[in-house]
Amino acid sequence: MTAPKPLVAGNWKMNGLKEALSEFQAMGKGYGAELQSAVDLMICPPATLLYTMSVSAVGSGITTGGQDCHQNASGAHTGDLSAEMLSDAGASAVIVGHSERRADHGESDGTVKAKAEAGWRAGLIAIVCVGETEAERDQGATLDRIGSQVAGSVPDGARADNTVVAYEPVWAIGTGRTPSAVDVAEVHAHIRKELTDRFGEEGAQMRILYGGSVKPGNAKELMAVENVDGALVGGASLKAADFLGIAAAYG
Ligand code: PGA
Repeated sequence: MTAPKPLVAGNWKMNGLKEALSEFQAMGKGYGAELQSAVDLMICPPATLLYTMSVSAVGSGITTGGQDCHQNASGAHTGDLSAEMLSDAGASAVIVGHSERRADHGESDGTVKAKAEAGWRAGLIAIVCVGETEAERDQGATLDRIGSQVAGSVPDGARADNTVVAYEPVWAIGTGRTPSAVDVAEVHAHIRKELTDRFGEEGAQMRILYGGSVKPGNAKELMAVENVDGALVGGASLKAADFLGIAAAYG
């Protein structure tokens, strides 16, 4: 059984005006043939940049994704975007269930699952995020929490080519703190078991990313952990040097 090809995905969150596209172009320049064969790269910009970035990505080998989608294909949902719109703008994936969406917009596992299915409907890969809070970790509830989020958020029908799971401890996002390699290994093994129990070989091949304060300086150690098939990167994905520095963990 071969290990899945790793994916390093950048989530720009609510950052980036048009001028930030020059950083994206620099990422494309640094993503040479050797790196391309070792690791997939993706940037999920704010929706305002998605179309332009997708056009500029042609030929670079870097793919683009959305940061969220509505579960419906169209309709009276002011301010929302459908997965079909993201696809139309050039995206090949969509992040669903990021902890900032879960916290700021009250998204439940059921909502996240519906959004993942919406992504598939539009031909997108769903990047389904899960993660425990600091209080849950302190209470020793991490594995239960992650288990129930994976069970509730990953839809039936998930395959290795349409679904990526991202483990992002809430307390590690944007804080500069990361779990130990041992803790990451424990959670990723737990997710892998749940995915293989449910999806068999597809679950064994599904990529499980680690996210939360991944930087060039810690990427090698985190990416070497068993069952870590890449990274979901926030702050350090805004600058080409940092993002490529993380990708270089696979170089
Ligand atoms: P961070 O964000 O890398 O800035 O910690 C990670 C994320 O939220 O995906």
